[in-house]
Amino acid sequence: MHARHRCRWTIVALLASTLVPLSLLLADRLTASEADRKPEEALRHALEHALDDERHAIAFYEAILDRFGERRPFSNIVHAERRHADALIRQFGRLGIEVPADRHASKDAAFHIPATFAEACDAAEIAEIRNVAIYDELLESVRDAEVRGVFLQLRRASQERHLPAFRRHSNGWTVVAHEALSDSQRAQRDRGADARTAMFARLMRTLREEVERIGPAGAIEVCKTVAPKVARQVSEERGVRIGRTSWALRNPANVAPAWTDLVLHDRPTEPRIASARDGRLGVTFPIHIATSCLTCHGPRDTLDADVRNKIEAAYPRDRAVGFSEGDLRGWFWVEVP
Ligand code: HEC
Repeated sequence: MHARHRCRWTIVALLASTLVPLSLLLADRLTASEADRKPEEALRHALEHALDDERHAIAFYEAILDRFGERRPFSNIVHAERRHADALIRQFGRLGIEVPADRHASKDAAFHIPATFAEACDAAEIAEIRNVAIYDELLESVRDAEVRGVFLQLRRASQERHLPAFRRHSNGWTVVAHEALSDSQRAQRDRGADARTAMFARLMRTLREEVERIGPAGAIEVCKTVAPKVARQVSEERGVRIGRTSWALRNPANVAPAWTDLVLHDRPTEPRIASARDGRLGVTFPIHIATSCLTCHGPRDTLDADVRNKIEAAYPRDRAVGFSEGDLRGWFWVEVP
C-alpha cells in the first residue's frame, strides 16, 4: 500500500471511529477551479451551496419524520436545520444576493427512506458528516468575516450536536482495517466474499446466455427482472444481504444500505469493511468495466440505437452510460450477520 492510499484510509478511519460514513454526491463536490473564482462570485457560490445542503437536510429529515412519526432526534434537529437555513438567508439579505429557489421543497424531490429507524439515523449521520465536510471546503474560499462566522457556527452544531445525537440511535457503522479484523470477523468477511463470487458468476452466466440468445437489446429486459432476483436468491441461500450499488445507477432500486455511502464518496478500488454495533459486518467489492460491458454501459453515442432505446424505455433516469474499459463501475455490497 503506498503512502497516499494509506493516508486516505486513515482519514476515513478517523472519521469513522468518531462519527461514521461520508457521502458526498460527486455532483455536489466543489471543483478544482473553486479557488480561482472572483471573491464575490466565490462568496455567492459558497452561500448557495451551504443553503442547498441545509435545505436538503430539512427535506430529508421531514421525509423521515413523515415515515417514522415525530421522533427524536429528527423532530428537534429539523428545527435546528430550519434556523441554520434562516441564518444563511440573512447573509444573502445583508449582501444583497438573491436567494435561490429551494429545489428540495418540491414534491418531486424523492428521497430514499431507509427501512428501519436505525438505518435512517445512519443516513442522517452521513448527511451531517457531509455537511461538516462542505463547510470545511467552503471556508477555504470565503473571506467575508460574518459569513465565516455563520459557517463555523453551523459546522459546529452539525459536528458537536447533531452527529452524536444521530450516532446514539444509529447502527454505529465503523470502518475496520483488514489487519484489525478479529477471527470471527475474518470468517464473516470470507462468507461475504463467497456470496459475492456466487452472485457475480450467476449474473455473468445469465448475461452471456441472454446476449447470445436474444441479443443485447433483448437482454436488457431480462436483466431488469433477473438481476434483482439473483440478488434475492443469493441473499436467501447464504443468509446474507447482498446487492450492487453505484454513484451512477441504472436501476434506482439498487440503492444500498446507508453504510455503503461511505464507498460512494471515496470510490475505493479495493474492498472495504465496516462493522455495526450489533456485530454485522459490511463488505464492499469494486466492480470494473470489461469490454463486454460496453454494449450497455459504454459512451451513449457509441451504443446501438436499439440498445439505447430499450435502456431509455426501461430506465428513464439511467446514469450508467459513458464508461470506458477498466473504469470503476460500482460495488457489490454484502452484509453478513
Ligand atoms: C445487455 C446489457 C448489459 C450488459 C452487457 C451489462 N449490463 Fe450492467 N446493467 C444492465 C441493466 C439492464 C442493469 C439494471 C438491472 C439491474 O442489474 O438491476 C445493469 C446494472 C448494472 C449494475 C448495478 C448498478 C446499477 O447501475 O443499477 C452494475 C454494477 C453493472 N450493471 C455492471 C455491469 C458490468 C461490470 C458489466 C460487464 C461485465 C455489465 N454491467 C454488462 C445492462 C447490462
